[in-house]
Amino acid sequence: MNAYPPFLDLPALAGARGSVQLPGSKSISNRTLLLAALAEGDTEIHDLLDSDDVQRMLDALSRLGVTVDAQGAQRIRVQGCGGRFPNREADLFLGNAGTAFRPLTAALAVAGGRYRLSGVPRMHERPIGDLVDGLRQIGADVRYLGQEGFPPLQLGPADITVREPIRVRGDVSSQFLTALLMALPLTGRGAVIEVVGELISRPYVEITLNLMRRFGVDVGREGWTRFVVPAGAGYRSPGHIHVEGDASSASYFLAAGAIGGGPVRVLGVGKASIQGDVKFADALAQLGARVATGDNWIEARAPRSGRLRAFDLDLNHIPDAAMTLAVTALFADGPCRLRNIASWRVKETDRLAAMAAELRKVGAVVEEGMDYLRIAPPAAFVPGAAIDTYDDHRIAMCFALVALAGVPVRINDPGCVAKTFPDFFARFAQISVAAAADTVIAIDGPSASGKGTVAREVARRLGFAFLDSGALYRLVALKALRSGVDPTDDARASALARALECAFEDERILLDGEDVSGVLRTEQVSAAASRVAALPSVRHALLERQRAFRGGAGLVADGRDMGSVVFPDAALKVYLTATPEERAARRYKQLMGKGIDATLGPLLQDINERDARDAARAVAPLRRCDDAKLLDTTGLTVEQAVQQVLDWYRQR
Ligand code: DC
Repeated sequence: MNAYPPFLDLPALAGARGSVQLPGSKSISNRTLLLAALAEGDTEIHDLLDSDDVQRMLDALSRLGVTVDAQGAQRIRVQGCGGRFPNREADLFLGNAGTAFRPLTAALAVAGGRYRLSGVPRMHERPIGDLVDGLRQIGADVRYLGQEGFPPLQLGPADITVREPIRVRGDVSSQFLTALLMALPLTGRGAVIEVVGELISRPYVEITLNLMRRFGVDVGREGWTRFVVPAGAGYRSPGHIHVEGDASSASYFLAAGAIGGGPVRVLGVGKASIQGDVKFADALAQLGARVATGDNWIEARAPRSGRLRAFDLDLNHIPDAAMTLAVTALFADGPCRLRNIASWRVKETDRLAAMAAELRKVGAVVEEGMDYLRIAPPAAFVPGAAIDTYDDHRIAMCFALVALAGVPVRINDPGCVAKTFPDFFARFAQISVAAAADTVIAIDGPSASGKGTVAREVARRLGFAFLDSGALYRLVALKALRSGVDPTDDARASALARALECAFEDERILLDGEDVSGVLRTEQVSAAASRVAALPSVRHALLERQRAFRGGAGLVADGRDMGSVVFPDAALKVYLTATPEERAARRYKQLMGKGIDATLGPLLQDINERDARDAARAVAPLRRCDDAKLLDTTGLTVEQAVQQVLDWYRQR
């Protein structure tokens, strides 16, 4: 259906905005299909999810002799078999679809017949012993064909008798309880289930009870420990049933809105939803995101402050959407903890280990516990990290969010999203606001304001190119000094500027092939640079050379006239400054650090004089443009200044 390449390179994003129609819920689709097949009468199902896991259930039903007709793209009709599958023997392959494997095992064991159930190798590593133990208590004939406690399974006809309460463990997977609940009405007799251990993922059991009720079976429950299936219960088709949008799938888009500005609206789930994962929106709200909900939609926007708050949350009730929160944690203002998520270990892959490994790849510091993750957001996102997806759709989908850090990210084996959301990446692109290839962040400001350090670091974190425009003036000055040209000689200096042979390689700056990074910073060159920079013809000669740095991933341009003259169309303009006293103190520290003797008084005087000269100069005078954000770094650390620029960039 969707042919994906071996990997997808998602481009750096500047934000997220828009709305997305959600695909149908996987949990509701597969439960509804099975209930419709078991019911008396035909059921028309609207908006069924079209994905691998649902296809596995449809294939299985067809092998069991159930007639399913497509009635147009979004509508199918299932002919109910009244609890007796037409085919009493079948070999069923269920891939890695837990929502098909567990309920079918229970339903077929109770309905009776000779069935073999198997899946992909990972399915054979996912425990099912607790369910089999439950089924054996009522006389079901279930045998392990491989390892004890795991699929594949062989089922045989049996005499089902329900006398005692059936005891089933609830602390490994709630699907065991779901499977038993759905199968027991087939006995026609009443039954009681007692849950042993703390029941996890309760909202999924609520989905089960809700859908069983729609098909005419009302299960009573006492807390979350005792469930009573009434005697004489049997499934009856409700005629029509509508599958709501998938709330777990919604989580990626809502998180995108909370991280990338928003608003992002998902259509297909809302206030009336029966899915527990709609609670993900509440979790986002706790992080400071602005969330709104309608009957059939949910919308998320970034916090007013721009930054999501660090969190420490028990996420047992939303294990799937919690993965999205793990990636959202990368964007929080401090370390986050996701607690009570041990069930991750028995899902499509060992999600605790896998998430920890992949989060580290983008730069996070992660502590992996038995049932928790502690995630410290990256100081700098690693551009272009290659994310492995472990044949786990949710890993592929949640890591797309990394692109919102403004860095490209590679998703290996993106086709695994077909399990629940085949066109995920197309819909994600729909709400993505691309960071245009020619995006420029201009950082202007007076000398010694620290803008060079901040600009360089912002560029590194975004994976952008970096333009140190001051170095160009220094190069012209050095060339002039070496060629015996007077740095105030307009014509000769501008000729040198036009003919300049230079290159920027990481930290090295080359002039005529020679590394001049050191000599460029000397006082002699600085003084000459300030003279050549005052010549209109030199400035003009360097203009196109500076503009040529644009292109590729994006550019951070550092210099006093970057936003005002060179890149007036920059996506973000920052005027970075500090009080003259602070700048003098920084310069003083810098010089002393280099072992150069200095005195604060003259440094301050020098800075004040330079400011006055720069502001008064005829060409490209130092000034803050109206559309530049003022960043006064007095009292800020470099890290705080960098974060502020990155926040402004993401909120644009
Ligand atoms: O930022 P810096 O100290 O390396 O700059 C060297 C000189 O060039 C300094 O005198 C300021 C001047 N300059 C300029 O006029 N315009 C720019 N865009 C960058 C630097």
